Amino acid sequence: MPISDTAFLEMKRLARGVAKHAHAPYSGFAVGAAVLGASGRIHAATNVENASYGLSICAERAAIFRAIAEGERTIEAICLYTPTPVPSTPCGACRQVIAEFGREAMILCCCDDDAAERRYTLRELLPDPFRLTK
Ligand code: THU
Repeated sequence: MPISDTAFLEMKRLARGVAKHAHAPYSGFAVGAAVLGASGRIHAATNVENASYGLSICAERAAIFRAIAEGERTIEAICLYTPTPVPSTPCGACRQVIAEFGREAMILCCCDDDAAERRYTLRELLPDPFRLTK
């Protein structure tokens, strides 16, 4: 299903806004993510770091888990905001988690320069995700 410009704009607004709530005292890198679920609702979250570094979670996974807890089962799109001059793409672990719920998901990457925004499909960023075949 094509994502409307209105939905993309709202995802960007929420991803950027929620980054203010990041818990990122170790990296100083405050990230925000917003997931558009099949219901049409948008679920936003930040990265949450921990003194035991490996326990930290990326904003995208936090937003996906929030969306799932709020009843979504399919991700139509995810927006990632990073506080950078050029957009960042989701890390490998987050790509695999997006694939679990949104094989056809669109990925919108935005930063402090609106003109630098980039759009991808998950298929472009993760053409061959892990599947449990047994
Ligand atoms: N981070 C994200 O939230 N999303 C990504 O896709 C990559 C990195 C977070 C994890 C950590 O809290 C900080 O950014 C620096 O890596």
